[in-house]
Amino acid sequence: MRAAVRQGLGFPYECNVGSCGNCKFELLEGEIEHLRKDPPGWSERDLQRKRYLGCQAKPLTDCKIKLNLRDHYKSHFAPAKTVGTLTAIEDITHDIREFRFRLAAPKPFLPGQYGLIAAAGVEGARAYSMCNVTTSGEEWHFQIRRVPNGACTGALFDNLKTGETVGLDGPYGMAYLREDAPRDIVLLGGGSGLSPMVSLARAATASPKLAGQQIHFFYGGRTSRDLFNETLLSTLPGYGARLHYHPAISMPEADPSWTGKVGFVHDYAKELLGEKLRDCEIYFAGPPMMAQAITKMIVEYKTPPAQVHFDQFF
Ligand SMILES: Cc1cc2nc3c(=O)[nH]c(=O)nc-3n(C[C@H](O)[C@H](O)[C@H](O)COP(=O)(O)OP(=O)(O)OC[C@H]3O[C@@H](n4cnc5c(N)ncnc54)[C@H](O)[C@@H]3O)c2cc1C
Ligand code: FES
Repeated sequence: MRAAVRQGLGFPYECNVGSCGNCKFELLEGEIEHLRKDPPGWSERDLQRKRYLGCQAKPLTDCKIKLNLRDHYKSHFAPAKTVGTLTAIEDITHDIREFRFRLAAPKPFLPGQYGLIAAAGVEGARAYSMCNVTTSGEEWHFQIRRVPNGACTGALFDNLKTGETVGLDGPYGMAYLREDAPRDIVLLGGGSGLSPMVSLARAATASPKLAGQQIHFFYGGRTSRDLFNETLLSTLPGYGARLHYHPAISMPEADPSWTGKVGFVHDYAKELLGEKLRDCEIYFAGPPMMAQAITKMIVEYKTPPAQVHFDQFF
């Protein structure tokens, strides 16, 4: 799949790590093996039907495969592999850190896209969304949430020092900023979903094409220590006038000093925007439960699917 996308083909995919199942193809001739053993997006039934995951398939012989290519999946910037040198680390919350890498071979990306990080000693690469905006592609910055006992986040948080390198591959993903969509923007994030929302907010506030649009940034955590410092957004142009930050927490009992909004981001968005959600361009990222709730909200408010952009996080 990655080889096809590099060549400009619209091979469908989403997560790149064997979890979503969107990259399945039928093997007509030849032999392949999966890079990841027992990937969650693949089943015994797929094996019987000779269906494999494009993002995990490594050809062992010449192969003939069958799938429907779709223009939607063609990359604006062809993904490429390179090496990133860690130049800086910054704490964003108690468990989210920003890791900044300088690329050996610069590669631009669209705001909201993600790259694959291959860290030393970790089997398989992991997907992480960039939080910066760049035209040169010299730097990729990632806001990454530490996962308890996580292999890749453990390697990044505990072992990687500035000056050291990781493998990078990208950019990937379809949840990028639609500058030609003349609608107000709703950004919904929680936990690990912060990074792409920050990139989208940075790009949307700087885009002349979107100058007339309101931008609503909803972000949720369990308690206030999960929320980032407001300066991350308040330093952007139009903050308070057309860029609006709406934080919420879901566990007020663990945070008695919190006087702000309590609840989940999708409920907060419904309360604040209501029927207007139908006419907005909606971007979201976060844990699967949050993504499910937002998907339900979008159906409820009849937002056309073409106005909704997300890559599922696993
Ligand atoms: C499109 C996308 C964008 C994401 N963006 C962000 C982000 O911006 N910030 C953030 O904090 N997190 C992000 N994530 C989540 C991130 O990719 C990791 O799942 C998370 O950091 C946990 O990784 P870990 O290795 O520490 O944990 P682990 O528990 O060790 O690994 C879990 C993750 O690794 C995958 N995995 C396990 N083994 C393999 C293998 N052999 N090959 C490939 N994958 C494997 C699993 O499917 C699971 O996603 C994103 C995920 C996706 C799919
Ligand atoms: S399983 Fe291959 S892209 Fe998600």
